[in-house]
Amino acid sequence: MKNILVLHGPNLNLLGQREPDVYGHVTLSEINEKLKKIAHAGGANLQHFQSNAEAELVERVQRSRQDGTDFIIINPAAFTHTSVAIRDALAAVAIPFIEVHISNVFAREAFRKESYFSDIAVGVISGLGVTGYELAVQYALQQPDRS
Ligand code: DQA
Repeated sequence: MKNILVLHGPNLNLLGQREPDVYGHVTLSEINEKLKKIAHAGGANLQHFQSNAEAELVERVQRSRQDGTDFIIINPAAFTHTSVAIRDALAAVAIPFIEVHISNVFAREAFRKESYFSDIAVGVISGLGVTGYELAVQYALQQPDRS
């Protein structure tokens, strides 16, 4: 069975309350539940993890090498623009991943246009709201399992 891991970076635990004009009204647990349903309907297993701490995200990525993860979907949030450490962890485990952003990072402040992830991602979805996560799961379902 395919295993999909969804990683959420800092402040995404506040979705639904945080800048709703930018990020919408849907909460993180609603997103996770919907993604699980899509994955299960496609015959896959989906795990999710959110942290505000860079080290915890690095450690979760490292664990994915041993736990049978076939595909990663990550919204690194603010770490998109700062984290060599999470980038290196993803490169180290060599598991294909999609970078997702709820907002269109290219239509915002200049510092959001830089990503430490995009060049090693399978693809990037930015600006489609929470639908971006759903499309990423649909894509992951179509990919072959690693094992
Ligand atoms: C974000 C965009 C980032 O620039 C920002 O720091 C976030 C969320 C998004 O989903 O649009 O926290 O990744």
